[in-house]
Amino acid sequence: MLVLGLETSCDETGVALYDSERGLLADALFSQIEQHRVFGGVVPELASRDHVKRMLPLIREVLTTAGVERTQIEAIAYTAGPGLVGALLVGASCSQALAFAWGIPAVGVHHMEGHLLAPMLEEQPPAFPFVALLVSGGHTQLVRVDGIGRYQLLGESLDDAAGEAFDKTAKLMGLQYPGGPEIARLAEIGTPGRFTFPRPMTDRPGLDFSFSGLKTFTLNTWLQCREAGDQSEQTRADVALAFQQAVVDTLTIKCRRALKQTGLNNLVIAGGVSANQSLRQSLEKMLGELKGQVFYARPRFCTDNGAMIAYAGCQRLLAGQQDGPAIGVQARWPM
Ligand code: KG4
Ligand code: ZN
Repeated sequence: MLVLGLETSCDETGVALYDSERGLLADALFSQIEQHRVFGGVVPELASRDHVKRMLPLIREVLTTAGVERTQIEAIAYTAGPGLVGALLVGASCSQALAFAWGIPAVGVHHMEGHLLAPMLEEQPPAFPFVALLVSGGHTQLVRVDGIGRYQLLGESLDDAAGEAFDKTAKLMGLQYPGGPEIARLAEIGTPGRFTFPRPMTDRPGLDFSFSGLKTFTLNTWLQCREAGDQSEQTRADVALAFQQAVVDTLTIKCRRALKQTGLNNLVIAGGVSANQSLRQSLEKMLGELKGQVFYARPRFCTDNGAMIAYAGCQRLLAGQQDGPAIGVQARWPM
């Protein structure tokens, strides 16, 4: 089955063609980050307008790259939520219109299911069952995955998502949006051990997270540095490293706990923060000790993209799911 996938939940327009026999045929992405950067975060109205502009040229681009005629497309998958409503509506209405015009089915996909399944596009995909750590700008969740659509929530963030904590902390320290890659870049030159930050909620049982206090702790440290007259680039890097290390350790401790609780030894990490090298290294070390394996997508497919939506939609369609022509999207939507 040849599926066209469209992603428009936030500030990236992603389009891809996935074939259940031949795999990923083509994918194209336009990131709006530069347009939102001057505002320090995503401006929803600007995001929607830009998706409208980019969508059809990107669809043409993937068709050309893959050498596919539009008549060969058998179904369309689009992100139906969660995300920014205006942005989601662009992908949903475009998909439903094309599906109607071409006489093919359309299916709405959960954005986080897309992230969760993105590692399936790699050469050595994980086998079910596994534990998944979903770490994006909007979500931080630990999920037991027994198959497509068979998800059991084990724990989640009670306040900020991990990516959101990176973004907000970066902003407090005068860094650009999105903050995750900025903090990761600075942390590379940070001095280990100069600052030590708390590992929130690791001293009590359970698999939930809380990152909001860590953000405040970082702000207070940064303000103390200012009072001491030291907000040098090196100090900024030292604070960034301490923050990143606290997030990475916290996520690693909870993943270890989730693996122990479920008796599983395969871990999938997905979502924008799974691109973080320090997190990958820490989880790989932990899984090495447990004689298990960590799976993740190539960096390009950790953040938002059309390939994960085409893949997830294809699995849903093969399982018999098909949506009606209604253009329905959901800003909030439990997986
Ligand atoms: O999955 P994603 O593209 O969008 C959502 O679904 O939210 O994730 C974006 C998030 C942002 O918060 C960004 O700062 C974070 O992923 N991110 C990173 C890195 N790359 C992106 N966080 C930490 N380290 C990175 N290398
Ligand atoms: Zn995402």
